[in-house]
Amino acid sequence: MRLEGKTAIVTGAGRGLGKGIAVRLMQEGASVVVSDIIKENAEICAAEINALGGKAIAFFGNIAKQEDVDATYAAAIKAFGKVDIVVNNAGINKDGTLVKMEDTQWDAVISVNLTGTFRMTRRAAQLMKEQRSGRIINIASMSWLGNFGQANYAASKAGVVALTKTAMRELAKYGVTCNALCPGFIDTDMTRGVPENVWDAMISKIPAGRAGQPEDVGNLIAFLASDEAAYINGQIIEISGGMVL
Ligand code: NAI
Repeated sequence: MRLEGKTAIVTGAGRGLGKGIAVRLMQEGASVVVSDIIKENAEICAAEINALGGKAIAFFGNIAKQEDVDATYAAAIKAFGKVDIVVNNAGINKDGTLVKMEDTQWDAVISVNLTGTFRMTRRAAQLMKEQRSGRIINIASMSWLGNFGQANYAASKAGVVALTKTAMRELAKYGVTCNALCPGFIDTDMTRGVPENVWDAMISKIPAGRAGQPEDVGNLIAFLASDEAAYINGQIIEISGGMVL
């Protein structure tokens, strides 16, 4: 129970990676704000956590909207009194090659993945600087190095990497850490959306011989969110079953 007495906000926690992370943080004793743009999924996840004996509230909002970001933090403080851990997991993809990419595809992905993560991180920074402690964990992607058909997604995740490192430089002296994770290929609705031949090709590139599970990422986040990880800061950590060296 490394996170007993701590409060965590996890965005995009209605399903997939975010849900796995929320459950894992609960297992370590954290109270969890399950935030998602899909109300029903947020409510189901929070109910599941509460049924397991944890403490969770559901919050329904869009991280790209400042008023929803403010309301998320207000709900967390009302329910649990403070915010110790923020996991910026919510993200979308709208893939297409550069020559065919529409402005709408570009704008949507940048607005959620980068601007939404910025708005969540800015509010976390304000609160955590004041309380002189905190953990911000941003979910980036190996795509930040560039990936075919993902100009928008790759650029958004590269932005998240730069945001993470800047947050570290500004917040480290206040006892706040900000790290980013780059998951490889994790079994979620997002990856299940790819054609079967692409799925098989991805698995064949993973030395571990399987896709990652949300819990694999949750295990790392549970550690990074703990007091034991106080000296790990501004890092970009890959978790890919050996896919990336
Ligand atoms: P997913 O599509 O299964 O889940 C994303 C969740 O975010 C959904 O519950 C969705 O409703 C929510 N969401 C979307 N837009 C939102 C918004 N504007 N405000 C609030 N919530 C919103 O995706 P998955 O696979 O769980 O991915 C989670 C994160 O991990 C994303 O940031 C993704 O880019 C990243 N990632 C995923 C990888 C994978 O292999 N699944 C690999 C590398 C990174």
